[in-house]
This record gives sequence, C-alpha cells and structure tokens, in this order.
Amino acid sequence: MDQLTGKKILVTGVTGWVAGPVATALAANGNTVYGAARLKDASKREPLEVAGVKTISIDLAKQRFDEVPDDIDVVLHFAVAKTQDFELAFAANADGSAALMEKCQGAEAFLHCSSTAVYEPNGHVPLRETDPLGDSHRPMPGMTTYSISKIAGEVMVKNMAKRVGVPTVIARLSVPYGDLYGWMTFHLMMLEHKMPIAVHTDQPTNYAPIHSDDLIRSIPYLLSLASVPATIVNWGGDEVAGVEDWCDELGRLTGLTPTYEPTTATIAAIIPDLEKLHSTGFHTTIGWKEGIRRQLTATRPDLVKQ
Ligand SMILES: NC(=O)c1ccc[n+]([C@@H]2O[C@H](COP(=O)([O-])OP(=O)(O)OC[C@H]3O[C@@H](n4cnc5c(N)ncnc54)[C@H](OP(=O)(O)O)[C@@H]3O)[C@@H](O)[C@H]2O)c1
Repeated sequence: MDQLTGKKILVTGVTGWVAGPVATALAANGNTVYGAARLKDASKREPLEVAGVKTISIDLAKQRFDEVPDDIDVVLHFAVAKTQDFELAFAANADGSAALMEKCQGAEAFLHCSSTAVYEPNGHVPLRETDPLGDSHRPMPGMTTYSISKIAGEVMVKNMAKRVGVPTVIARLSVPYGDLYGWMTFHLMMLEHKMPIAVHTDQPTNYAPIHSDDLIRSIPYLLSLASVPATIVNWGGDEVAGVEDWCDELGRLTGLTPTYEPTTATIAAIIPDLEKLHSTGFHTTIGWKEGIRRQLTATRPDLVKQ
C-alpha cells in the first residue's frame, strides 16, 4: 500500500461488503477518500466518517454525480445494483459505470470491480480472462440480472476507457470475504439452524476466496495494470476452496454438522486462473482456513467449540 498514499480516491459502493473496508484502509493510509453510494440510510455515514471517509451521495442509475469532486486521482468502482429488474440493472451497472468514468475522466486510474460471475462455468477448469462468458448466476435465486449486467458493465467501461482515455483495469472478483462479511456468514447461519446448504451437483463447488486484508493489499497491484485500452484481470485468493470446504471447516470449529443439498439451482464452481494477477507480483497471504477461523471468532465467538 506504500504507493497508494496522498491521493484523492473515490470509492463507490462504500456501504457495501467489499468497498467499506477498502475505503477505511485507504483513508488510514494518508489518502483523501470519498466514499460514495446513494446513502438513503443516513445512519450508514457515521461509522465511515469516524474512520476518516468523506461520504457523498451518487446514483448510478440516475447518473447523478454532482457531489463527486472534479479532481479525483483514482476511482475504485465497487457499487452494484442487485435487482431483478433488467432495465435498472443495466442503468446502474452498465450505463451508470460508463457515466461515472466520463465524470472522472481526468483520473490517473479507474478500477472497475467486475466478477467471475461473467464466466460460463466449465467444471473445475481454471478460467482465463479470454475464456467464454455466460449467465452463471441466473440459477441462483435473486441473481437473475447479475451476470448479464456485469458483462454489460465491462463492455461499457471498456468502450468509455477508449473514448475518454482513462487508464482502466477491470478486475473479475471471485469470492470476497472478511472478518465481518462473506458468503460464509450466511452458511454459518444455515448450519446453526440445521438448514441444508445448496451446493452444485458438479461438486466440489469451488472458487478462489480472497480475504479482505489481501483484497486491500492487492489494489495497488491491480492499479499497476490500468491501461488504455482497458486490461481485464481475474481477482482472487491463491488457494482454491469451495462451499463444501468452508462449511466443513465451520462444522469442525463449531461442532455443528453441515448437510448439503446438491442442486443445479445454485452457482456452479468458477475457478479463476490467476496467472495474470500473479504476474504483478501479488500473492495472497491469508489461507482460507485461517480466514474462516478469523471470521467465526469475530462474528460468532459463542459458537466456537471449546
Ligand atoms: N459479494 C460478492 O460475493 C462478490 C463477488 C464477486 C464480485 N463482487 C463485486 O464486488 C463489488 C461489491 O459487491 P458487494 O457484495 O460489496 O455489494 P453490496 O454489499 O451489495 O453493496 C452494493 C453497494 O452499491 C451501492 N449501490 C447500489 N445501487 C446503487 C446505485 N444505483 N447508485 C450508487 N450506488 C449504489 C449500495 O449502496 P446504496 O444502497 O446506499 O446505494 C452499496 O454501497 C460489486 O461490483 C460486485 O459485483 C461481489
């Protein structure tokens, strides 16, 4: 993080899982950080402001960016609309992302957070950035528009990067988690309530989970790839692990017994090939087992088996 100091940084999606810890870490590292979201819930501002993040309201779907300063150095664009409405998803995740880029066209770098959700799953074969795209998240309840609107977002961002000349990196994130958030927090709740956990019939349901501390450390490495035309890079942790792995580990640490429900109505395994990310010199340092233990002890110390 040594290189990323003394900058004016816009972090969108700041009230969300991934971007909040990024924004506060960058503010603590000597940057002026503007944390943006619609912020309809004003109570979400305070903890961010206390952590040194200047909160501003934007709306991607309405292309409302009047509170964004004109002289932003770096944009980290994490905001995403998770909606069943395709029009809204395209307006926010595709058109809105491009409009934000146009607004910040003087920036030295723009990081667009995409997702490995854009890939067509291919069993347990690691997927490279050039591999076929698909609608991987459609089977997951509530995620109807997600893959398609994230793909549309990439296309719009690539186009705008060329049109306005902003050095851009599109980073396809696998499964992010931290001490206080992640897919596993839901799985833990399901374990506790003896609910069966959906896994894909093509087991194991593997990904490349990346802990928030590593994700934050990786930002300067990703920004080093920002270019015109935009560069696309996979973004995840060095270790492959699946829903079955972390639920078994949660079971071992708590004494609770996971039960699995193999189904096609969930996301299939998507393992990103990380060669391009690693070519920047970046590797993760927090293994998934350590990360799971940290999350459990931070969120539910009462459940840890004595
Ligand atoms: N979570 C994952 O497992 C995962 C996996 C791979 C990639 N990703 C990517 O990582 C990024 C962050 O995801 P997340 O899970 O942290 O998201 P999240 O928790 O759902 O947060 C979404 C953020 O976007 C903001 N937002 C939503 N609609 C908006 C709009 N119209 N205008 C401006 N801001 C808006 C929300 O704040 P307001 O409601 O206040 O506007 C919130 O701050 C996304 O780009 C996502 O695609 C996530």
